[in-house]
Amino acid sequence: MHSLFFSSLILGAASSVLLARETGTRTMIPKTCFDSIADFENSFDYLYPWGTDHNGAARMDKDHIKISDGVLTLTATPATGQEPASSGGKSIDIHYLSGTVYAKDHFNVSGSGGYDFTGDFRATTTRGTWPAFWLTAVKGWPPEIDMAEWKGSGKISFNTFNTSSKVESKNVDYPSPGDFHTIKSELRDLNGKDVQIKFYLDGDLVTTQVGKDFTGVPMYLIIDLQMEGSSGSPGPTGDTEYEVKNLEVLTYNP
Ligand SMILES: *[C@@H]1O[C@H](CO)[C@@H](O)[C@H](O)[C@H]1NC(C)=O
Ligand SMILES: *[C@@H]1O[C@H](CO)[C@@H](O)[C@H](O)[C@H]1NC(C)=O
Repeated sequence: MHSLFFSSLILGAASSVLLARETGTRTMIPKTCFDSIADFENSFDYLYPWGTDHNGAARMDKDHIKISDGVLTLTATPATGQEPASSGGKSIDIHYLSGTVYAKDHFNVSGSGGYDFTGDFRATTTRGTWPAFWLTAVKGWPPEIDMAEWKGSGKISFNTFNTSSKVESKNVDYPSPGDFHTIKSELRDLNGKDVQIKFYLDGDLVTTQVGKDFTGVPMYLIIDLQMEGSSGSPGPTGDTEYEVKNLEVLTYNP
């Protein structure tokens, strides 16, 4: 009697939690986002939110972004005669033209909320190639969460920046870069202030990190193919491709 009462109570509580989670889930970016240019433009925009350049040797333009049959392809091509980029007060020589896209929505983990970011990625780990899938602050910096970053070393990196010097970084071997691999990041509000991130590679939890004061702070989602910079140099003398498919973003924000 006793145990029956309590187990039905627990079952009842468990199913209402499940129900709340189910009904609380909404799709922010659907898996069809790379099916056509129109689908893409519903959710994404071209280049970086701030323009064509960032902290590497690639300058982004629309010609190096292709959307076809459910796949986003960014291509980096060697280029000469470009004006240098300027980043953080430094001048950076441009050696490539490449592609970057960002989501039109901002991602702001609210109290007791969160997001799931999932996708299949084909990314190189060749020296001088720096593909990434990441979140960065809309205003100021941090937050930054690198849901996947390949820095030309044969590894994949997962990072969370509390400040420029307080960084949690996990680098693991990246098998068969010629194949697609599934990346998933689960962001959840931890305590009304901090955001916990669980990073998955091919279904396995690789690391759990915590971003300080990330709750309630809007972030951009960026998919870019930077070159050289943190990935070493010189980069490849031919074209480099970075492909993404089955990208989906779900929100658990109340
Ligand atoms: C970042 O801040 C969170 C929350 O205070 C903490 O748990 C985490 O260890 C910090 N990371 C680093 C690298 O200091
Ligand atoms: C982030 O989301 C919270 C709750 O959904 C909202 O109260 C807050 O205004 C948002 N912050 C910004 C800067 O958009």
